[in-house]
Amino acid sequence: MKLLVTGGAGFIGSNFIRYFLDAHPDCSVLNLDKLTYAANLDNLSEVASRANYQFVQGDICDPELVGSLLRQDVEAVVHFAAETHVDRSIADARAFVETNVVGTYTLLEAARRKGVRRFLHVSTDEVYGSLAPGREADEQAPLQPSSPYAASKASSDLLVRSFCRTYGFPAVITRCSNNYGPYQFPEKLLPLMITNALEGKKLPIYGDGLNERDWVFVEDHCRALDRVLDAGRPGEVYNVGLGKPATNLEVVRMVLRILEVSQDQIEFVIDRPGHDRRYAVDTGKIRRELGWEPKVDLEEGLARAVKWYRSHSDWVKKAKSGEYRLYYERFYGNRRASLTQL
Ligand code: NAD
Ligand code: TYD
Repeated sequence: MKLLVTGGAGFIGSNFIRYFLDAHPDCSVLNLDKLTYAANLDNLSEVASRANYQFVQGDICDPELVGSLLRQDVEAVVHFAAETHVDRSIADARAFVETNVVGTYTLLEAARRKGVRRFLHVSTDEVYGSLAPGREADEQAPLQPSSPYAASKASSDLLVRSFCRTYGFPAVITRCSNNYGPYQFPEKLLPLMITNALEGKKLPIYGDGLNERDWVFVEDHCRALDRVLDAGRPGEVYNVGLGKPATNLEVVRMVLRILEVSQDQIEFVIDRPGHDRRYAVDTGKIRRELGWEPKVDLEEGLARAVKWYRSHSDWVKKAKSGEYRLYYERFYGNRRASLTQL
C-alpha cells in the first residue's frame, strides 16, 4: 500500500513514518510537508534513503500539488499537517484557519476526486473542551473547543464528517490526548520542561499548575493510528488516551525527580487565556473494537523521553535557535512581566 502522509516532518508524523515503515516494509510513504518552524527533516534521517520513502516540500492548501501527488498510485492518506501550538493560535489564528481548515478541505476534496481507499484524519481531544472532574468525553460528546487551535481542529473534524455523510467518503477520525516523546518541538510542555531543566533554566508553569492532561507516549499513539488505518470503520471517530490524567505540576515534578534537578527551578507565570482545566477521554471504543491498549505508562515514558532529549543535544540546540528563540524570549518575558504587574 502507498500512503500519502501530510505533516510527516513534525513530531507525531515523523514518529509515525518511522514506526509504519518498520512495521510494514512492503508499504511506501510519500511525505508532504511545508516545513514550517515545527518541522525538521533530521527527524527522518533513519528512513530518508529508503526506496519506499519519498519527501515533497509543499503546502496542503495547494490543490494542484495535492492532486498530482494523489495521482501517484496513493491508496490512503494519513493527515497530520497542522498548526498545533495553542499559545501561537491565541497570538494569531490565521495560519491555523488556513492550514487546519482550508488545508484539510483541500486535501479532502482532492482525495475524494481521486477515490482513495482510506483517509485517516488525526485530530485531538482538545475539540471536546474542558471537562468537569470525574467526567470523560466519549466520541459522542459535544465539540466545545476553547482555543482558536482547538476550534480549527473541530472545524476540520466536521468537514471530514460531512464528507463521510454526503459523499460516502471513507474517512476515519482519531482524537488523541496530549502526546510526548522523542522529536517533539520544545515549545510544548514536556520537551520545554526537560530541556530547560537540563540547561539550568526556569520551568514556566501557567497559573496554579493544576490543569490536567492525559499524557500518551507517542509510540502508543502511532500504534493506535496503525490499527485505525487498518481496521477502523469508515465514518467513525476513535478516542485515544492513557486514561490517567495528571496535573501539569505532577508531571513536571516527575521530570525533575528523574533528572535529579531541584524543584526550585519551577516558576509560576501568568495563565494562558481560556486555559482548559481538564481533558479526559473515554477510550473504551478503540480498546473494544480494535484491541488497542497503551503500553507505556507515564513513569516509563518520561524516563525514555528524558533519556532521548539528554542524548540529542544537537537536535535540541537547532530546535531552540533562530525564530524560536526570539519567539520564546518575547513570549515568556511578557508572561513574567505581566505577573509582576498583578
Ligand atoms: P507538529 O507541529 O510537530 O508538526 C506539524 C507538521 O505539519 C510540521 O512538520 C509542519 O511543517 C507541517 N505543516 C504545517 N502546515 C502545513 C501545511 N500547510 N502544509 C503541509 N505541511 C504543513 O505537530 P504534531 O504535534 O506532530 O501534531 C500532528 C497532528 O496530530 C496535528 O494534526 C495535531 O492536531 C494532532 N495531535 C497532536 C497532539 C499532540 O499532543 N502533539 C495530540 C493529538 C493530536
Ligand atoms: P501544551 O504542551 O502547550 O499542550 P496543550 O495546551 O495543547 O494541552 O501544554 C500542556 C499543558 O501545559 C497546558 O495545560 C498548558 C501547560 N503549559 C505550561 O504550564 N507551561 C508551558 O510553558 C507550556 C508550553 C504549557
